Amino acid sequence: EKGGHEYFMLKEIEEQPEALANTLRGHFVNGRIVLDEQRMSDQDLRDVDKVFVIACGSSYHAGLVAKYAIEHWCRLPVEVELASEFRYRDPVLDRDTLVVAISQSGETADTLEAVRHAREQKARVLAICNTNGAQIPRESDAVLYTHAGPEIGVASTKAFLAQIVANYLVGLALAQARGTKYPDEVAREFAELEAMPDAVSRVLTTVERVRALGRELADSKAVLFLGRHVGFPVALEGALKLKELAYMHAEGFAAGELKHGPIALIEEGLPVVVVMPSPKGRAVLHSKLVSNISEIQARGARTIVIAEEGDETVRPFADHLIEIPAVPTLLQPLVSTVPLQVLAAEIARSRGYDVDKPRNLAKSVTVE
Ligand code: F6R
Repeated sequence: EKGGHEYFMLKEIEEQPEALANTLRGHFVNGRIVLDEQRMSDQDLRDVDKVFVIACGSSYHAGLVAKYAIEHWCRLPVEVELASEFRYRDPVLDRDTLVVAISQSGETADTLEAVRHAREQKARVLAICNTNGAQIPRESDAVLYTHAGPEIGVASTKAFLAQIVANYLVGLALAQARGTKYPDEVAREFAELEAMPDAVSRVLTTVERVRALGRELADSKAVLFLGRHVGFPVALEGALKLKELAYMHAEGFAAGELKHGPIALIEEGLPVVVVMPSPKGRAVLHSKLVSNISEIQARGARTIVIAEEGDETVRPFADHLIEIPAVPTLLQPLVSTVPLQVLAAEIARSRGYDVDKPRNLAKSVTVE
């Protein structure tokens, strides 16, 4: 059952390459991206002029990642919102608004109510869901299922990575419908996605080293996470995992916000996890983060740096270096999240907690 693992979460972390491959399968047919269920016309998809992404918890973080890709590929404005906020606001929506609702369970009360709130205003809803026939996909105009398989661990891992991939498919479907990407470009992006299961398998070779680091950090009082661009939602997700599993104070920040407050928290020995962008991507992003790490290290932080293999520039500033394979910038969350999941699980285990069943949490939040 746990496949020889001490806890389900580790098994589910290791199932991520398969979850991604299964989620991609069957979605590129005759040179075109296809959704699972589309109860809206192709014209409706072409007419979309604004996107809202709504979700809770980790699913919300997957939505934050999606924003970078959909804006870039589709040239559409994208707003990402917590379902529990969206449903009580008066969001500006109409029939040309696409609302992407992300939910592993498909039953989260706030997300379901947010879907209803959007549909009352004639917006179209596309659900990304891991559970066949759940309420949210049933009430949506289009569905893309993640095929992560059932998650036993309460903390989302393989469903989260599968949600990111599903969001990318939605982005490509929109780009294809709107003509902001040529068919050969869509095909190329899809091929990049198809290479991700192997890239995730590569990161998994570092699991034992990351677990050892987790054991070293188990007595920390707090851990901070920093990232920029797509690394920012990854930082938020790393912090959420640590809170929910290890009951440790953890916060994720956009690295650019450091000087606007969080740097005051840095003190001798405080572990700070930094998600580095690729040195081959936008040079400015990379160099900004290098200077952020040097600043926090100079103030005594214990730096844990997630960086691309062969990124020599960060070595002098990294007290602990965790290497991830080189992948296109927008896809990096699929590899950089993995060590953060392992870290949180192992810190929790070292502290004697039940990794699969953290206190006070339920797998499906059907009450508000
Ligand atoms: C975190 C976690 C939760 C869920 C959230 C939304 O590890 O699992 O934050 O992501 O409760 O659940 P779904 O996706 O089922 O709507």
